[in-house]
Amino acid sequence: MKKARLAIFVSGSGSNAEAIMRYFNAHPSIEVALLLSNNPQARALRRAEVFHVPTIVFNREELHQGKVLDYLIQAEITHVVLAGFLWLMPTSILNHYSHRVINIHPSLLPKFGGKGMYGLRVHEAVLAAGETESGLTIHEVTAHYDEGKIFKQVKCAVLPGDDASSLASRVLKLEHENYPRVIEAWITSSADQPN
Ligand code: GRF
Repeated sequence: MKKARLAIFVSGSGSNAEAIMRYFNAHPSIEVALLLSNNPQARALRRAEVFHVPTIVFNREELHQGKVLDYLIQAEITHVVLAGFLWLMPTSILNHYSHRVINIHPSLLPKFGGKGMYGLRVHEAVLAAGETESGLTIHEVTAHYDEGKIFKQVKCAVLPGDDASSLASRVLKLEHENYPRVIEAWITSSADQPN
C-alpha cells in the first residue's frame, strides 16, 4: 500500500514540526513529504533540512490563488498538518483535502481560541482568567480559527507561580508527546475513507 504523505504548514519555530518529522522518520506507512511556510525566516525550514524534508516558502497571493494547492497536488500530499501556522487555510485547500487538515492549539478549546489567540497570548489569557488547568487541543481545520471537530484534548495543571512562559513550556512538551501519535491514529482511522 502507498504511504500517506503529510504536508506540514508552519510559521515559526517548528518544534512540533520537528517532533512530527522525527516520529515519522522511517515509519512504515506515513511520511512527511513537504514542509511549507509563509515565513522565509522560520526556524522550521532549517529543522526540515535536517530530516531531508523538502521545503516551500509562499506568500499570501500564492496561498489564495491556488499555487499552494498546486504544490500539494504535485507532491501527492494526502494529509495536511498545521503546526504553528498563523494564517487561515483557504476553502480551496479545505475542500480538496476535506476532513484531511488537522491543527494543534495550546489551550482547551473552545476556551482561549480564535483570531489573535496564539503564542504567549493564549497562556496569558489562561492565567488572567484564573484557570487551574490548561492543555492542548487537536482538531480538524475549518475556515474559521480554532473551530472544527475535536480529536483529542490533553490537560495539565496551571501551577501557583506560573507565568505565561512556564505554562507554555509545560503545554508545548505535551504537544510534542501527543501530536505525532494523534496524527498517526487520525490517518490510520481515515485510511479506508474516500478522499
Ligand atoms: C504551538 O503551541 C501550537 O499549539 C500552536 O503554535 C505553537 C507552535 O510552536 N499552534 P512550534 O512552532 O511548534 O514550536
